[in-house]
Amino acid sequence: MRILLIGASGTIGKRLINEFSRRHKIITAGRTSGDVQVDITSEESIKQMFENLEAVDSCICVAASGAMDNFQTLTQSTLLENMQGKFFGQTSLVLIGQHYLNPHGNFVLTTGIFADQPAKGVTGGGVISGALHSFVLSAAIELKNGLRINAVSPGMTQDSFERYGELFPNLKPVPMKDLVAAYVEYTEKPVTGQIARIY
Ligand SMILES: NC(=O)c1ccc[n+]([C@@H]2O[C@H](COP(=O)([O-])OP(=O)(O)OC[C@H]3O[C@@H](n4cnc5c(N)ncnc54)[C@H](OP(=O)(O)O)[C@@H]3O)[C@@H](O)[C@H]2O)c1
Repeated sequence: MRILLIGASGTIGKRLINEFSRRHKIITAGRTSGDVQVDITSEESIKQMFENLEAVDSCICVAASGAMDNFQTLTQSTLLENMQGKFFGQTSLVLIGQHYLNPHGNFVLTTGIFADQPAKGVTGGGVISGALHSFVLSAAIELKNGLRINAVSPGMTQDSFERYGELFPNLKPVPMKDLVAAYVEYTEKPVTGQIARIY
């Protein structure tokens, strides 16, 4: 399988490369890192990437996080700005990528625990992940040519514990192997419209 891995240089991406490169050809992508450069906040950049790429069977996105926010000063424009990367970036990848992926290919998006479990300072992050879950359900019945789509929703990963542990003391770290297994299942098994909640 030819797998496009967007966000390959990140915390989760690095683990996915290790696993998938044993069995598949991986094309890594990021704004400044990887084999190909793409900024998923830009539809033009996404289109250019797919135009220049030999067709892929799978597109996995582990790029762009929601920003922290303050509910008392949150506005429509801050929320919208927050949605540009992780929400609109991933929906654009699918809306544009559906015309480029090989038949029977698949998308795996990344969401997060705050869709289901609120925490202070991540209203935008929760909304983004919840909206992506709804997007996956719709896309799964709309996509043509046998294309599949699923999302992995991680809790705080073991590898990010040092970075986020103090901010979210109520979250227990999730083993990286459980997270990687969810991406593998959605890429290699014929499932669609699923959300793997790895909490
Ligand atoms: N780590 C966790 O514990 C955790 C928990 C729950 C959910 N998640 C979600 O999992 C995803 C990945 O998290 P992570 O911690 O692995 O991220 P990370 O370590 O910050 O890495 C992000 C990766 O995405 C790329 N990237 C960032 N913005 C991009 C853009 N606009 N266009 C293209 N590439 C972009 C970065 O490369 P460049 O700098 O080269 O662009 C980098 O490779 C995020 O959606 C995050 O919210 C993570």
